[in-house]
Amino acid sequence: MSDYCQLSGLTKTYPTPRGPAVIVKDFNLNIRKGEFISLIGHSGCGKSTVLSMLAGLSEPSGGGIILAGKELAGPGPDRGVVFQSPCLLPWMTAFENVMLGVDQVFFTASREERAQIATYYLTVVGLGDSLHKRPSELSQGMRQRVGIARAFALKPKMLLLDEPFGMLDSLTRYELQQVLIELWRRNRITALMVTHDVDEALFLSDRIVCMTDGPAAEVGEVIEVDFPRPRERKAVMEHPDYYKLREELIQFLEVRAHRKGTAAPPPPSASASPPAVRRRAPADIEAPMNPA
Ligand SMILES: Nc1ncnc2c1ncn2[C@@H]1O[C@H](COP(=O)(O)OP(=O)(O)O)[C@@H](O)[C@H]1O
Ligand SMILES: [Mg+2]
Repeated sequence: MSDYCQLSGLTKTYPTPRGPAVIVKDFNLNIRKGEFISLIGHSGCGKSTVLSMLAGLSEPSGGGIILAGKELAGPGPDRGVVFQSPCLLPWMTAFENVMLGVDQVFFTASREERAQIATYYLTVVGLGDSLHKRPSELSQGMRQRVGIARAFALKPKMLLLDEPFGMLDSLTRYELQQVLIELWRRNRITALMVTHDVDEALFLSDRIVCMTDGPAAEVGEVIEVDFPRPRERKAVMEHPDYYKLREELIQFLEVRAHRKGTAAPPPPSASASPPAVRRRAPADIEAPMNPA
C-alpha cells in the first residue's frame, strides 16, 4: 500500500516571552491508507500538537502534511476528529447532533437518506435505543459513542482521535475500544489515535509511533503490531509477542523517550522470552499508564 498521508519535517513553534519555544521538531511519518496508528508519548510532549496540525486546527511552523495527494490547508470534513469528550449541543438529541454534520456533508442526499446514515452509525455504536435522548440523559460513555458515530457518519478520509477514552472508566473504555475497532474494520478509515495507554495502543494499532519528550519532540521509534485481525482482546493478550512488545513500549517511555537522537536498539529475536525482571522506573518518570 502506498503512503496516503505524509507528515514531513513537521515543526511547531510557539512564541513565548523568553523567545520561541520549539514544541515539535522535524516530525516525519508516512501513513498508509487504511492503517491504524497510535501516537504515544509522555504528557506534554506534543502529541495533541501533531494531531491538531493534522486536523488543520493549528498551522505548522515548518514542514507540511499531504493527505490523499493534496497539501493540507485548514480544517475540513475529510478529517473526522474525536476528542476526550465530544462537544454535543445540549438541546439537541443524539440523532440531531449527528444529523448536524451529516446534513452539511451530504447535502445532496435526501432527508431520508441522511436520517438513515445517522441512525445507522448511532445503532452500530450501540445507541439504537437512545437516538432521541439529549446529552444530559446520556452517560459519559454514551456521549462518547455519539462522538464516534458522528465522526464515522461523515465518512472522512482520515479519523483523528485525541485520547478518546481518557475520561472513561476501564470497563467502558474496553467497550468503546471494541466499538471503535469494529467500525474501523468495517469502514477501513485511516486512523491516527493519541493515547498514553500501552495496552490500548497494542490492541488497536497496526503501528505505534513513540514520541520523544519535548521540547523539540520527534518520532523516537515506530513499533509494528501485527496481531491477526479481527482482534479479540483475550487472544491479543495471549499472543506470544504481546509482552515483548509491551515491554518494548514501556522501556521506550521509561528510558529512551528522555534521550535525544537515540537510535532504536536491534529488535529482540523472535525466540527471546520476555525479560523476567522489569526494569524499575526512575522516580522522576511518570508511569506510562497514568492519565495525563
Ligand atoms: N498555544 C500554546 N502556546 C504555548 N505553548 C503551548 C501551546 N499549546 C501547547 N503548548 C505547549 O506544547 C507542549 C505540548 O503540548 P501538547 O501537544 O498538548 O502535549 P500532549 O498532547 O503530548 O500532552 C506543552 O508543553 C504545552 O504547554
Ligand atoms: Mg494531549
